[in-house]
Amino acid sequence: MTAVFDSLITGYIENKIGIANHFLGLNLSRKLKGNLLELFEQQRLQIAGTGLTALIDSNEKIRTDKIFWLDRLHNDEHENSFFDLMDAFVLHLNATCFTGIKGYEFHYTMYEKGDYYKAHRDQFRDNDSRQFSMILYLNEDWMAADGGELCVHLEHSKVMVAPMDGKGVFFKSNELLHEVLQTNKQRMSITGWLKC
Ligand code: OGA
Ligand code: MN
Repeated sequence: MTAVFDSLITGYIENKIGIANHFLGLNLSRKLKGNLLELFEQQRLQIAGTGLTALIDSNEKIRTDKIFWLDRLHNDEHENSFFDLMDAFVLHLNATCFTGIKGYEFHYTMYEKGDYYKAHRDQFRDNDSRQFSMILYLNEDWMAADGGELCVHLEHSKVMVAPMDGKGVFFKSNELLHEVLQTNKQRMSITGWLKC
C-alpha cells in the first residue's frame, strides 16, 4: 500500500491534490457500497449540513446529498477494514510528512440523480481541526454522461475528477475550493477529514 499512499501524498505536494485510481481495493469498495445501499434502503441516511448554514438562503441549498457516519462501534467488518486502511495511511503520512494527524471522521455519502454540492472549502469558520480532506469513490462503470464530477478550482485551472470506483482524492481542507457537479445517476462515496 505504501506506493499508493505515496502517490496521493506526492500529488498533493506537487499539484495541491493527490488522486490515486486504486486506493480502495475492489472487494472493499463493493462491500462498503453494499453497506451504503442498505442504509439508503432502510432510510437511515441524514440530510447533510454545512458549517455555514446560517448564511445560506434556504431556497438555494449549497448541498443536497445525504450522509451516514462510519464508526468502529458499529462492529461492521468492512467499516473496520476501511478504518484499518485509514490508520495505516495516517501513520504513513505522519511518519513521512510530520503532519501530526491525531484523528479522523468519515461518512458515507449518497448523491441521488440531480444532487450536487456547490463550491466550498471543507473547514468550518469556527473550528480549524480539519486538516486534510479525503474522498473515496464507490461507483462502478462511471461514464462521462453521468456527470457528478468533483471539480477542483486551482489558481489557473480546474481539475475534473470522475467518481470512479476505488479512486481516492486527498487535499488540504482549508486550501482548495471545490464542488460536486450535478449527477445524472446515484453517486456513492466515503468522505472524511484527517484532524489535528
Ligand atoms: C464534501 C465534498 C466531494 C465529492 O463532501 O465536502 O466536497 O467528490 N465531496 O464527493
Ligand atoms: Mn468538500
